[in-house]
Amino acid sequence: MKALVINGPNLNMLGIREPDIYGSDTYEKLVEICQSAADDLGLDGIEVFQSNHEGAIVDRIQEAYGTVDGIVINPAAYTHTSIAILDALKAVGIPAVEVHISAVEEREEFRQVSYAGMACFARVTGEGLQGYTHALRLLAEKLGL
Ligand code: DQA
Repeated sequence: MKALVINGPNLNMLGIREPDIYGSDTYEKLVEICQSAADDLGLDGIEVFQSNHEGAIVDRIQEAYGTVDGIVINPAAYTHTSIAILDALKAVGIPAVEVHISAVEEREEFRQVSYAGMACFARVTGEGLQGYTHALRLLAEKLGL
């Protein structure tokens, strides 16, 4: 199984941005966590992608068609606004898990809608960076690994 992890805007600022909410670990640490989860789960490969641009995320989802078996996605702020990312996930039909570092369900009202989540079979929130390990495990289980 080949997995693609997609991270949206401002996640490259982990370690600097709002550490009281997102913790003090950096984006590089997040990439390491995903790579080591992929090794532990015996995945054939993993790519960890980050972009601050909605269109680049849509492009990356489209490019995954036919080459990637499963997606873990944290669309960050685009979670709450992007029908384009929802439509891209639906278009490729690749099994996807939504992940958020913080417990979005306990935060502001505007974070309560998740468009991308409507195309995901599972959701992990509030587990910090280790939530990505959990999300990758759910994906592997879904794909029969
Ligand atoms: C986030 C939650 C979003 O509401 C926020 O805009 C982010 C990060 C999270 O991982 O907790 O940028 O997706």
